[in-house]
Amino acid sequence: MIAEAAVDVRPMSWTDLDDVDALERLLFPADGWSLATWWAELAARPRREYVVARVADSVVGYAGIDHGGDTADVMTIGVSPRVGGRGIGRILLGELIGRAVREGADAVLLEVRADNIAAIGLYRGAGFETIQTRRRYYQPGDVDALVMRKLLFPQSDSVTTDKEDR
Ligand SMILES: CC(C)(COP(=O)(O)OP(=O)(O)OC[C@H]1O[C@@H](n2cnc3c(N)ncnc32)[C@H](O)[C@@H]1OP(=O)(O)O)[C@@H](O)C(=O)NCCC(=O)NCCS
Repeated sequence: MIAEAAVDVRPMSWTDLDDVDALERLLFPADGWSLATWWAELAARPRREYVVARVADSVVGYAGIDHGGDTADVMTIGVSPRVGGRGIGRILLGELIGRAVREGADAVLLEVRADNIAAIGLYRGAGFETIQTRRRYYQPGDVDALVMRKLLFPQSDSVTTDKEDR
């Protein structure tokens, strides 16, 4: 585990894009975003928000969210395997959730390959639940997509459920 204080999370700037592009190619060799896509994503701010995580001045991770009103969507999240399993993914996801709360969203949605054990563990640990399975969504390979959701105000939601039960 890396001490949270050692991880510097800041809004992504165009000056980060070479590092982000290198990490993207490493993490998503088959279907990563091109540098042109990253420029387009940064141009879509403020609806889109991207952050980078740095440790000792090196970019070790990034994440992004789309603010779509009532729901926000996780666009991407990635952490360098050099520092994987040390809590940086959790910090980045927490940052996105915090930003969704600030923008007034009721829920955060994301989509993940059903065989991505690490990512699913990260999302479950943060309170996401599978709400839909899209069969054989990822081709080639026939891999299902899981749509996961985290309600940002679960207490008020459970009160509603209790009322409906009576
Ligand atoms: C998914 C990813 C962002 C996790 O980042 P990370 O910094 O390694 O994650 P953390 O150290 O914060 O771990 C958080 C949780 O993720 C899960 N996790 C992380 N690495 C794992 C692994 N190798 N195996 C199983 N679960 C793992 C665990 O549930 C962990 O919680 P725990 O520490 O209480 O067990 C990272 O593995 C990654 O970049 N993967 C490749 C890109 C990708 O698949 N992105 C998601 C696309 S939907």
